Amino acid sequence: MKKTVLVSGGAGFIGSHVTVELAQAGYDVVIADNFSNCDETNYRGVCKILGRELPLIPTDFCDKAAVYALFEKYPIDAVIHFAAFKAVGESVAEPLKYYRNNILSFLNILDAAKDKERCNVLFSSSATVYGEAEDLPVTEKTPRQPAKSPYGNTKTVCEDILRDSVAAYPAVKGIALRYFNPIGAHPTALIGELPRGVPNNLVPFITQTAIGKRACLSVFGNDYPTEDGTCLRDFIDIVDLAKAHVCAVSRMIDGQMKQDYEIFNIGTGRPVSVLELINTFERVNGVKLNWKFAPRRPGDVVAIWADPTLAEQELGWKAERSVEQTLIAAWAWEKHLAEIGI
Ligand code: UD1
Repeated sequence: MKKTVLVSGGAGFIGSHVTVELAQAGYDVVIADNFSNCDETNYRGVCKILGRELPLIPTDFCDKAAVYALFEKYPIDAVIHFAAFKAVGESVAEPLKYYRNNILSFLNILDAAKDKERCNVLFSSSATVYGEAEDLPVTEKTPRQPAKSPYGNTKTVCEDILRDSVAAYPAVKGIALRYFNPIGAHPTALIGELPRGVPNNLVPFITQTAIGKRACLSVFGNDYPTEDGTCLRDFIDIVDLAKAHVCAVSRMIDGQMKQDYEIFNIGTGRPVSVLELINTFERVNGVKLNWKFAPRRPGDVVAIWADPTLAEQELGWKAERSVEQTLIAAWAWEKHLAEIGI
């Protein structure tokens, strides 16, 4: 029998790519989103890629009754929780907004999940929980550090909420995936990252500068203790990242977990500097970017990259796409947006 996966925030950047991979792997996917941070562009792209409509249920996950109604209506075997705010700076200015939205939504999902006979919960966590790690690359055993922002803290707290819920409620099994820096777009250029307003993250800022929406890209800091003075990150292709979710969901649904709560790093294992990424973007796409150095951005860690060995061993997953392919896809997506007038 086909299994059903509920994707909260399924119309967003990561959620839409995960939805495509799940549907292509044979799962029934229910997308639920309140469109607080996206429009229907990605949802329409998902349907176009799949050649059919998927159920889209407008849902505010902070509304407990609405979450219970979803669990009543659909035979949900697994839920993947993406519906959360993610702007680090905004979270510092408006912490209560972040704590209320990101934590309450997850509590409601776990409440509904625990009342089922069995429900698998996948939480989208982040490498932000490692802070500025002493030893690199980081494994899942690397100690977490106190979060530097309310956004980061919601990731730490939600991991703990999932761990404790799994321990307390026999129905609930859980996996937390700690993403490094997800970038890129689907190779069809029909879905991708669509930030509202001025992008906070590097790659959308690069593509928007290349297309002329932004005048100049600021590279935050050129005096870090790295080879070229800019920060090092583990940029993971969004389609690769999405595939990790299919592996994690099937591991949970097929009863292959070794523990009832598991954590996996989802990264490439390759550090790339901000400057290297910019140079690669220019080279593979044949475009010249207008950029300049600017002061360091408060809260940025110097370097972080994953040891993804555990995911390879246990999930049978590893990153396959090169950073070149990923940056070509990111640029194709930005050009697609220009063509459709966004
Ligand atoms: C941040 C979050 C991470 C989240 C990710 C989402 C923290 C500390 N980081 O990662 O949890 O998962 O976003 O993708 O919570 N940069 C520039 N110019 C720009 C934008 C960025 O130079 O206009 C630099 C930054 O200084 C940084 C690198 O590019 O060194 C990556 O920045 P960004 O894309 O914002 O991701 P992170 O801060 O690493």
